[in-house]
Amino acid sequence: MIGVTGATGQLGSRIAGLLAKSGVPQRLVVRDPGRAPSLPGAEVAQAEYGDHAGLLTALDGVDVLMLLSATEVADRVTLHQATIDAVVAAGVRRIVYTSFVAAAPDATFTFARDHWHTEQHIRSTGVDFTFLRDNIYLDFIPTLVASDGVIRGPAGDGRVAAVARDDVAAAAARVLTDPSHAGATYDLTGPSAFTLAEAAAILTDAWGRKIRYEPETLDEAYRSRENYGAPAWEVAGWVTSYAAMASGELSHVSPAIATLTGHAPLSLEQYVARM
Ligand SMILES: NC(=O)c1ccc[n+]([C@@H]2O[C@H](COP(=O)([O-])OP(=O)(O)OC[C@H]3O[C@@H](n4cnc5c(N)ncnc54)[C@H](OP(=O)(O)O)[C@@H]3O)[C@@H](O)[C@H]2O)c1
Repeated sequence: MIGVTGATGQLGSRIAGLLAKSGVPQRLVVRDPGRAPSLPGAEVAQAEYGDHAGLLTALDGVDVLMLLSATEVADRVTLHQATIDAVVAAGVRRIVYTSFVAAAPDATFTFARDHWHTEQHIRSTGVDFTFLRDNIYLDFIPTLVASDGVIRGPAGDGRVAAVARDDVAAAAARVLTDPSHAGATYDLTGPSAFTLAEAAAILTDAWGRKIRYEPETLDEAYRSRENYGAPAWEVAGWVTSYAAMASGELSHVSPAIATLTGHAPLSLEQYVARM
């Protein structure tokens, strides 16, 4: 039995849909069963991350779990650790976890540090694992454009090998159903790494209106976002996602999507053409 968390979300629903299409029995572990997708061969169980007793019940009989990282909160690592402890106590034999490329304790992108600590905790339990280190979702790139047609951020002329959620989902579905991926860590990236200026040019061509990139300094980036009313840790996450592009940490292009799925990952041009 495969369990899938986050099945009410963008990535989890895609993974669950692919598993259902392949006829794989699964249990969708969601916070709100009323919003779970209705899929052939899928049971639904209710549990929230950090809810030890609820997770023990919801995961009873699950062998392999697709564990999606939680929506960002101030102390996401503690939430993940408590969740992983419950997952292991429930008898899950392998965790497939959505991590982030270049996850490290000192990663430039502050949210990527959470992923490194989460990976370390999974390793420390001795459970089998597969880590899918996703780059930034390609789906986000068009949303970086402000209403005035400008992408603003401290990305310098750094490159990002952004990957489509559809490709991550296809890779995850393969990895979940094949035990030979135990112990593996895969960087999931698009087919190439582009600068935000190049992204702006691609969007200009696709949309038929001028889109441009205006690099900010780190100070400008923090100042321009300080009136959004978001907590400091969240603003740091937003700003450092661009800084991570500038650092080169998001530029590595990996063959893993093609190797795992048998098809090339979507490029930004292909993604926007499908929008
Ligand atoms: N690589 C990237 O660029 C990138 C970007 C953004 C996020 N991410 C990470 O990737 C994850 C999946 O992305 P997505 O696009 O599918 O996000 P999404 O559409 O927001 O879906 C997140 C899913 O996780 C569930 N979830 C979140 N916190 C939870 C908690 N505390 N307990 C139980 N379930 C929880 C949500 O449940 P509800 O429907 O009940 O809220 C939802 O089903 C995100 O949660 C985030 O950690 C990666």
